[in-house]
Amino acid sequence: MNEILLQARAIRLALPDMARKPAFGPAPMKTILDDVGFTLARGAALGVIGESGSGKSTLARVLTWLAPPQSGDVLFEGRAVRDFSAAELLAYRARVQLVFQDPMSSLNPRRRVGASITQPLRALGRLQGRGDEARRAGELLERVGLAPHLAQRWPHELSGGQRQRVGIARALALEPAALIADEVTSGLDVSAQARIVALLDELRRDTGLALIFISHDLSLVRSLCDEILILRQGKVVERGASAELFARPREAYTRALLDAIPLPVPEPGWLDQEEPAEAGE
Ligand SMILES: Nc1ncnc2c1ncn2[C@@H]1O[C@H](COP(=O)(O)OP(=O)(O)OP(=O)(O)O)[C@@H](O)[C@H]1O
Ligand SMILES: [Mg+2]
Repeated sequence: MNEILLQARAIRLALPDMARKPAFGPAPMKTILDDVGFTLARGAALGVIGESGSGKSTLARVLTWLAPPQSGDVLFEGRAVRDFSAAELLAYRARVQLVFQDPMSSLNPRRRVGASITQPLRALGRLQGRGDEARRAGELLERVGLAPHLAQRWPHELSGGQRQRVGIARALALEPAALIADEVTSGLDVSAQARIVALLDELRRDTGLALIFISHDLSLVRSLCDEILILRQGKVVERGASAELFARPREAYTRALLDAIPLPVPEPGWLDQEEPAEAGE
């Protein structure tokens, strides 16, 4: 449980700042992430919090090596992703999956839900015919609390919460060791948000999936994550155990973040409550 799965070390990333690009010549570089580091143990849950533009999504892109940083390293199971061959990078991205906020934009509208979910398996030649595809789609849907028959639906026929579950199901298809969830609850109503968080928590407990949960919502982060990283303008402001940080924020910025958001007192055991069935299941 304490074995380190993923580690970020002194990540520094700068990108061209198009807003300040002169009429002629290259755009000046803007530092987006500055000396960001953390460790994620196997099966742990790390929350990443920070105001808009603080670099959370960019960090997710760095971790999956969609945006290789100028300096610093990401280590997966002790090995630097920077040194991975193309084939190893592909295998790494199967192990560390990214799920975005808006599954409508990541789900192909012309593909049935089942085909979308099994697409990563198909791409890697891991499906044996139609029967296997239907079976795998059904299993993955059940793992995220949806009825297998939803495989036949089109993305637009699902609710926002159901679509987000489909996005998670697809991310689970390749049995990753870690899931990076970038604002996956934004745009959902409060109860759908809570149920997505409960699902992630359940997946973590049942399968040992490690989570990086990026969110604006401190109460959701607190209920799910044991460790928290607070970003501001690309720098780590504070990092530590969730309970400690919420009880005794050391930095003024953290206190301001905590004060700015009304924290509902979570009912004891609310995560263990039975899930109400979603419409259309
Ligand atoms: N491709 C890019 N080129 C240049 N600058 C970028 C690029 N992508 C992001 N940025 C800048 O990097 C900074 C961090 O952006 P990022 O999207 O990581 O923030 P965030 O914390 O995810 O914000 P939000 O909470 O709004 O999603 C912002 O100032 C943004 O303008
Ligand atoms: Mg973002």
